[in-house]
Amino acid sequence: MPPILTVSQLSKTYASGFCALKNINLEIARGEIFALLGPNGAGKTTLISIVCGIVNATTGEVTVAGHDIRRDYRAARSLIGLVPQELTTDAFETVWNAVTFSRGLFGKAPNQAHIEQVLRALSLWDKKDNKIMTLSGGMKRRLLIAKALSHEPQILFLDEPTAGVDVELRRDMWQLVRSLQATGVTIILTTHYIDEAEEMADRIGVIRKGEIILVEDKTELMRKLGRKQLALQLAQPLAQIPPGLQAYALALSADGHALTYTYDAQAEQLGIAQLLQDLNAAGIAFKDLQTTQSSLEDIFVSLVRAPQ
Ligand SMILES: Nc1ncnc2c1ncn2[C@@H]1O[C@H](COP(=O)(O)OP(=O)(O)OP(=O)(O)O)[C@@H](O)[C@H]1O
Ligand SMILES: [Mg+2]
Repeated sequence: MPPILTVSQLSKTYASGFCALKNINLEIARGEIFALLGPNGAGKTTLISIVCGIVNATTGEVTVAGHDIRRDYRAARSLIGLVPQELTTDAFETVWNAVTFSRGLFGKAPNQAHIEQVLRALSLWDKKDNKIMTLSGGMKRRLLIAKALSHEPQILFLDEPTAGVDVELRRDMWQLVRSLQATGVTIILTTHYIDEAEEMADRIGVIRKGEIILVEDKTELMRKLGRKQLALQLAQPLAQIPPGLQAYALALSADGHALTYTYDAQAEQLGIAQLLQDLNAAGIAFKDLQTTQSSLEDIFVSLVRAPQ
């Protein structure tokens, strides 16, 4: 199946002369959840804004389900729902009217049942007649999602959807995103909560200083770049690592009670079996052992900190 979103050779230089995006190439498959990660100012919102037609690209092309976002703007835009990073809402409007109006903007016929379903899914049904200014911050964020879903988009962009929302709402949002995916909606999200990307995404893209430095299947990324550690609590403290064990990447704690072995998650497990045998041969006994694996957050931090 052709990708639902294609970004090719996209660059953006703002009027100030600042180059926010440099030669971005990206293809998003229909129905996937794609997380775009990057530090503040990396260019995530700029990229989303270009795809949604809010910001003009300097060079390059974007197509949505085959529609060029410049030549065929209305067709492309009607397939997209956008939950913006910034809260911008008309304070005096009611929830119901705001969401209904959003749908109308995309030329869709009124559908009260759909609007009701969206408001219920976002726990906003009992607030439908409230003026927006009377909603809490988290409710306003949910309202932005309701507006973005009002016209039944095929691609949903969520630009930091869970910034400032409570734990329960975060979980609800994840569930909503999954149920949208189950109905065939493609989801592209940005987040600074790496655990969220780890939990939700099928694929991860990392952007740094306007350049995409990595796009990878999440499981594959964790397998490739993840590191594992084996921690051994020793029965007797060691003064130093015995010469026979120098070949292993071992670290001895300051008090001599713990040995830590770091290895690639990808590497064969054989190393561990051999290490344990060699420890035994060296007469080193241990009381306990534990293995840990690096999280996506560890991987992300090492990627964005790496020298260019
Ligand atoms: N209208 C503008 N004029 C000039 N520079 C801009 C404009 N909008 C954004 N920028 C710059 O472009 C860069 C990318 O900004 P962008 O908002 O895309 O980052 P981001 O990855 O979304 O960051 P955050 O995680 O903080 O939301 C930043 O350096 C920003 O200052
Ligand atoms: Mg942003």
